[in-house]
Amino acid sequence: MKGSPLIPFALIALIGILLMAGLSAYGLFERNAAEEGENGAEEEVTEIEDPIAAGEEMAQASCINCHGGDLAGAAGPAINNLDGQYTVEQISEIIQVGIGSMPPQTQYDPAEADAIAEYLLSISE
Ligand code: HEC
Repeated sequence: MKGSPLIPFALIALIGILLMAGLSAYGLFERNAAEEGENGAEEEVTEIEDPIAAGEEMAQASCINCHGGDLAGAAGPAINNLDGQYTVEQISEIIQVGIGSMPPQTQYDPAEADAIAEYLLSISE
């Protein structure tokens, strides 16, 4: 057998088989994790881990168009100065139902609207 030209091929085949087994085991694990994640998310629609960070992201996505890049006002009034003027609940309601000429931001559920409101009060001067 010494020096058989087949040995390198056998080795490569073995490595290939091991790699495939490893990858499919990993894929299975990932899929289970993803399914768990989905189910978990479904149970906790209203659970937002870090409301201020999430609120900032949503405000950047949806409010700056009208309220300005720094939320200091543009077409809509400044909303970086709401502390003392509105509570979290009131801001959350404005986001969900709109106010005056501001349309309701229906893409957000109440928990998300709360998170945006918390963020706005956190940056309020
Ligand atoms: C389509 C433009 C538009 C978008 C998008 C928008 N707003 Fe407004 N917003 C306005 C306008 C205009 C007003 C003033 C309404 C009025 O008083 O007639 C306003 C008013 C407000 C007020 C009351 C401010 C005050 O001083 O009374 C808050 C709070 C507010 N918006 C928050 C938000 C938040 C948070 C978002 C993002 C989730 C958002 N808005 C997205 C246009 C917009």
